[in-house]
Amino acid sequence: MATRKPFVGGNWKMNTNRSTGSDLARGVVDGLMTLDGVDTCIFPPFPYLLTIRAILRDRGSAVRLGAQDVFHQPDGAFTGEVSIPMLKDCGVQHTLVGHSERRQVIGEKDELINKKARALLEAGCDVVFCVGETLEERQAGHQEIVNARQVRTGLAEIPASLMERLVIAYEPVWAIGTGKTATPQDAQEMHRQIRELIARMYNADVASRVRIIYGGSVKADNAAELFAQPDIDGGLIGGASLKTADFVTIVKAAAEAGRAKP
Ligand code: PGA
Repeated sequence: MATRKPFVGGNWKMNTNRSTGSDLARGVVDGLMTLDGVDTCIFPPFPYLLTIRAILRDRGSAVRLGAQDVFHQPDGAFTGEVSIPMLKDCGVQHTLVGHSERRQVIGEKDELINKKARALLEAGCDVVFCVGETLEERQAGHQEIVNARQVRTGLAEIPASLMERLVIAYEPVWAIGTGKTATPQDAQEMHRQIRELIARMYNADVASRVRIIYGGSVKADNAAELFAQPDIDGGLIGGASLKTADFVTIVKAAAEAGRAKP
């Protein structure tokens, strides 16, 4: 068993409805009932959190419940936002922070992302913190600088003691929802660089324990090769997490890869 337990997230984004989301959750739970050696979390849209939570609970599933975003203030006049206490109240364990669609489409900046990550960790919640370069940035050869900036700013003032509850998702923007996957070698290289950066920011122990997962067109047929890379500890799955059989195959590939690692 690898020193780092693999983690796979199913990011449903703004998809499903109450009925199709429930079917999907039931399918995932049933497909993974006997599986161990991997942490699995599904991230439904906010309105369905309680419905999906009930399904996970009823079936005694180890699959966890996640939220796709949060606002860092505990309460108050923030129309349309959802707070950490609200998410906790709904049984949410993991929350995505800094997903590229929030950065690119909604315009979230590193500083806001840092506030969200800090507030979640300080409240005892788990975080999946996403980083990744755009196509232009990669073509200009700036991917290392861009990811380093996002990691340094996003994790500013987060102490080593809270890093245990944080998973980093490296998701190159050009690979998300495009069908273009980073090669296992390119993804591994970026994961290695991020782990080295964490060692410089914190220490070797934190770096060796932090899970760094890959996202961007992970599918049932390319997951195993990606997850076999030494610094890739699982995946954040968008499109393929909406198909029960594909998602189950991907989670099983992560568990298998974890078992094969030293
Ligand atoms: P994708 O999305 O798997 O559809 O590329 C991944 C993500 O955005 O987390």
